[in-house]
Amino acid sequence: MSRPYTIIVSEVTVDGKLTLKKGVSSKEIMKFMDEDAVRYLHELRAKVDGIMVGAETIRTDNPFLTVRHVEGKNPTRIVPTAMADIPINANILEKDAPTIIFTSEKAPEDKVKNLEEKVEVIRCGDEKVDLVKMMDTLYKRGIKSLIVEGGSRINWEMIRLGLVDEIRIIHMPFVVGGISTPTLVGGEGFNSLDEIVKTKLRAHFMRGNHLITEWEIIFD
Ligand SMILES: NC(=O)c1ccc[n+]([C@@H]2O[C@H](COP(=O)([O-])OP(=O)(O)OC[C@H]3O[C@@H](n4cnc5c(N)ncnc54)[C@H](OP(=O)(O)O)[C@@H]3O)[C@@H](O)[C@H]2O)c1
Repeated sequence: MSRPYTIIVSEVTVDGKLTLKKGVSSKEIMKFMDEDAVRYLHELRAKVDGIMVGAETIRTDNPFLTVRHVEGKNPTRIVPTAMADIPINANILEKDAPTIIFTSEKAPEDKVKNLEEKVEVIRCGDEKVDLVKMMDTLYKRGIKSLIVEGGSRINWEMIRLGLVDEIRIIHMPFVVGGISTPTLVGGEGFNSLDEIVKTKLRAHFMRGNHLITEWEIIFD
């Protein structure tokens, strides 16, 4: 399989959380982000061919996923959703950047048709989106580099499947707590030390008040 070079990038609190509470938009904690750190994120967006988030992030945060704080081109926006469950007024369906929705064979035809009036929709997988096949499709369509901007569940699936090359963290200098608050990587987690994904710190530096750490995934 060929796939894009893939980087997970996220704003993460000192206690490893992605947002204030389950179901709350991460835009709330991002209000505390320095302009310098926002620019770091947008510089990265401008360098890659594609930007992906899980469908729950679209439903909760309604992000634009465009380059706004620096000069540069918008990457193609990519969202996987098994049942084509994307609100029809979502910002990613607007024309400011290309968008591809990946869905499954199970997605209702009417929902797919409604989305197709605005963006491209690709069925990829029987019951759920087959992320391995999706990555192969993206690569063949010229998306050679990809950032994944969360959330917790899509990060887990991508890491579990060995589809991630780097993790970059914009550290948010506070603690939010909460047992059910999404962390950087959720899902069921690994069951043994044999399975855990090892990383190597490649860089660390400050952008404004934020420590940025860049981690390479070590493939055995
Ligand atoms: N701090 C940050 O940088 C940051 C960034 C992004 C998000 N967030 C926060 O993270 C939270 C959302 O995270 P989340 O973990 O609940 O959801 P998520 O990872 O954003 O999205 C999960 C959804 O992705 C879709 N999906 C499609 N194919 C999939 C597959 N093969 N495997 C897994 N998921 C697949 C599913 O939607 P369907 O049910 O439609 O199939 C699933 O429910 C929000 O609170 C948001 O604010 C924070």
